[in-house]
Amino acid sequence: MQSLNTQSSTYNDTVVRQFSIMAVVWGVVGMLVGVIIAAQLVWPELNLGLPWTSFGRLRPLHTNAVIFAFGGCTLFATSYYVVQRTCQVRLFGGKLAAFTFWGWQLVILAAAVSLPLGYTQGKEYAELEWPIDILIAVVWVAYAIVFFGTIGRRKVKHIYVANWFFGAFILAVALLHIVNSAASPASFMKSYSAYAGVQDAMVQWWYGHNAVGFFLTAGFLGIMYYFVPKQAERPVYSYSLSIVHFWALIFTYMWAGPHHLHYTALPDWTQSLGMIFSLILLAPSWGGMINGMMTMSGAWHKLRTDPILRFMIVSLSFYGMSTFEGPMMAIKTVNSLSHYTDWTIGHVHSGALGWVGLVSMGSIYFMVPKLFGQKQMHSMKAIELHFWLATIGIVLYISSLWISGVMEGLMWRAINADGTLTYTFVESVKAKHPYYIIRLLGGTLYLSGMLIMLWNVLKTASNGKSAFTTIPTVAAHA
Ligand code: HEM
Ligand code: HEM
Repeated sequence: MQSLNTQSSTYNDTVVRQFSIMAVVWGVVGMLVGVIIAAQLVWPELNLGLPWTSFGRLRPLHTNAVIFAFGGCTLFATSYYVVQRTCQVRLFGGKLAAFTFWGWQLVILAAAVSLPLGYTQGKEYAELEWPIDILIAVVWVAYAIVFFGTIGRRKVKHIYVANWFFGAFILAVALLHIVNSAASPASFMKSYSAYAGVQDAMVQWWYGHNAVGFFLTAGFLGIMYYFVPKQAERPVYSYSLSIVHFWALIFTYMWAGPHHLHYTALPDWTQSLGMIFSLILLAPSWGGMINGMMTMSGAWHKLRTDPILRFMIVSLSFYGMSTFEGPMMAIKTVNSLSHYTDWTIGHVHSGALGWVGLVSMGSIYFMVPKLFGQKQMHSMKAIELHFWLATIGIVLYISSLWISGVMEGLMWRAINADGTLTYTFVESVKAKHPYYIIRLLGGTLYLSGMLIMLWNVLKTASNGKSAFTTIPTVAAHA
């Protein structure tokens, strides 16, 4: 233990602290935009009649901010934290880690300016124009050098499973980004995709689905494999299962993209292939979820008193739920009902708010006191309150959209005896109104929890500042 503590003083935690704080800041910003667009769907006048505050421009701002700014900063912070501790060495590459921080913040700022101005490639989750894409590629290569360089000079022979997941996430995202962003620039901030027609759609949804699989899943599973055992103070339930989980998950995800293109011009066999691989995906997803849950064996009682552990375990429940729902929605007949409806948005947010959001919050609550030389977060009561606001918020959000989604899907397909449509489209829009109000309420609760978190994190950081400057080995608590 003593030797670990001595080594931990050599960790580069400055960059981990920076990414952790910015994850919370961007979480607040991204979710605030989410609440604004949810309100615009209730009261369209909130578009304000201005192009840059219209739903169509703010929606990609929301998705980019929550996925790449909030999720991205969380992944940078946790992967840098975990790789140093499990390899027992300082981050590789000296100032390169700081470059990844400032480079990533620049990408986020460029997105925050260019999306409201209407610059977009029109590809979901890959909207940013070519100069920003190039910057992303450069920062990502630097990230890969820092991460794999650290693994390369590790002092521990074994590579802990969390690092396998982080490594796969880094490599896969590089591949996805470079292939899907291939385009010919026509001018500064305008380009045309290198692909056309149905190939363009296929490449885009190969990217889109694996952005979910590797950005929103594999990276966060890396978080789960380190922070759940740490917080529960129990070893991972089954190390063998984690290896099977890893290979099965990364192999299967790559093939499931066509489920986003059911009933399109994509060849039918490709759609069926996507459906089958999506159904197979249930097995590795649940294997991982069960492995995380069973790590709690003998520690379940801690859930009563430990709100941070609760964030992590409830997050795993939502992971299990959304990875059951996803394969069901990939079945073509089910998709013929769910596609284009709010059911998809409900599914997205059970994964995004439930799984990605809660596990991020849990791991940041775990790291922040240690990073700032504190025994615990400034207020444990505030974490408790945050947990309930977030959980109730998610339940309101996803259940209202399930109802509204299935309802509108059924309304669209309802046919009278004479073959005419029972409902006009606008009737289905009108029927959704009450559910949009409930979703807005759920989102507002979730956002208010995030604001409490921001206050708590900043308080803990400032409490720790004095201790931090006088104690050189703050990371010794890790
Ligand atoms: C306060 C919390 C949030 C609120 C109120 C919110 C609200 C919204 C709204 C209103 C939409 C547009 C839905 C539509 O077009 O009908 C949306 C889309 C989306 N949001 Fe959120 N969101 C929140 C948090 C998050 C988080 C934390 C993530 C990811 C980590 C996320 C990921 C997404 C994605 C991926 C979409 C696009 C879904 C699709 O195209 O199918 N959201 N959100
Ligand atoms: C076994 C795992 C999963 C499978 C098989 C799956 C399957 C699906 C299916 C079939 C759709 C609807 C496609 C459509 O009709 O357009 C979908 C949409 C989506 N899913 Fe999942 N899902 C899984 C897990 C997750 C998780 C854990 C998350 C989030 C963390 C997530 C995020 C999304 C997003 C963002 C979309 C919307 C894409 C868009 O149209 O913009 N999924 N998923």
